[in-house]
Amino acid sequence: MNYLGIEREKFADVSNQLNKLLANYQVYYQNLRNFHWNVNGENFFDLHEHFENLYDDARTKIDEIAERILTIRNRPDSKMATYLRNAQINEAGIVEEDGEMVQIILDNHRVLIRNMRKVIELAGEIKDEGTIDMIGGFLADIEKSSWMLDAWRVRKLEVVS
Ligand SMILES: [Fe+2]
Repeated sequence: MNYLGIEREKFADVSNQLNKLLANYQVYYQNLRNFHWNVNGENFFDLHEHFENLYDDARTKIDEIAERILTIRNRPDSKMATYLRNAQINEAGIVEEDGEMVQIILDNHRVLIRNMRKVIELAGEIKDEGTIDMIGGFLADIEKSSWMLDAWRVRKLEVVS
């Protein structure tokens, strides 16, 4: 049954872009787990907890993105190999410096933000308000989160310099 009021075929571009967003989110999620585990030094307690908050948030959003793809009658990618192939975000290795971790997360956010804007643009073309509303909310969240990380990073750089 088509309960959407838009032909299924019209969702192809939005679904593809959402799958790209899903792939990027999965790699971003794993980067946050990596940094949660491996952070050390004077900012350990702050960043260990903050990275956990961010990956908990990412986990919820990953599920919502996948279920939105199903809602618009398409299939979310589910294999790690596919995510790694489709993602523009790279897997982080071992990073020694906490400032560098925050910088990598901010760079990951930039990719996600660009990805989300593209989803919104494509959803706008077919008047898919459900996707626009959902991803618009995610966009505002990640922009705010980026501001906070940037505020932390700027303070840190000032202390160092
Ligand atoms: Fe933990």
